[in-house]
Amino acid sequence: MMTKSYRAQFGESNPAVSVAARSAYTGSRTMHHALRNLLLLLLAALLLSACAMTLEDQPRFEAQEASAFFADGAANRPRVPDTVARGELRLDPLLTTGQVGGQFVDSFPFTVTQTILERGQQRFEIFCAPCHGLTGDGTGVITEYGMPQPDSFHLPDLREREAGYYFAIITDGTRVMPSYAARVPVEDRWAIVAYIRALQLSQNVNATEIPAEKLP
Ligand code: HEC
Repeated sequence: MMTKSYRAQFGESNPAVSVAARSAYTGSRTMHHALRNLLLLLLAALLLSACAMTLEDQPRFEAQEASAFFADGAANRPRVPDTVARGELRLDPLLTTGQVGGQFVDSFPFTVTQTILERGQQRFEIFCAPCHGLTGDGTGVITEYGMPQPDSFHLPDLREREAGYYFAIITDGTRVMPSYAARVPVEDRWAIVAYIRALQLSQNVNATEIPAEKLP
């Protein structure tokens, strides 16, 4: 070690050198201990973590992966013919398509309440406002980053579109707008449509329709 040879070289005869050398030696010894403890700690952490299997690395199949277990060689299981999964029975075409007899319907499959409107506002602000803007005028923040600006929901043509049309667009998407069917459940889609109706009313209301006590 550097400090030892230092001591051997100068001995104890020169007190100044000896004090400096000794303090350098003891300093390096405590550093040495600290380093050893750190290494032991690291080793312990390594050994302990190696025992725990996380969800991330447990054996499992990825979507579309092959499997030797099933006769058809695929890990994905097909739906059982002529059955419907729980919660996926679609008996009410108005509720699940916004259409009756192939025509969009301008009504709601359930009564719209204040609670539904509030839910619709919350969902709209999460899923639609980034592109359509908080008031539905088409000036969402994403339009500043290359997404084409959608038409304002307050244009006469769009105000006249049926509630079912809005439901269908959320379900299927249109042109550059993606489908939100996987992210927004059926009831929430209707809640959003109800809130769009409220927005449309808010931007086109006739002053005579506003209760006197609400007027500024
Ligand atoms: C990623 C951006 C984006 C999001 C999020 C988005 N939209 Fe759109 N939407 C668009 C664009 C862009 C268009 C115009 C599509 C076109 O004409 O190519 C559009 C079109 C529409 C239209 C049709 C308007 C017309 O001209 O007939 C409706 C209705 C609509 N969106 C509703 C919604 C609702 C409701 C949501 C929330 C569930 C939503 N969008 C979420 C981008 C988006």
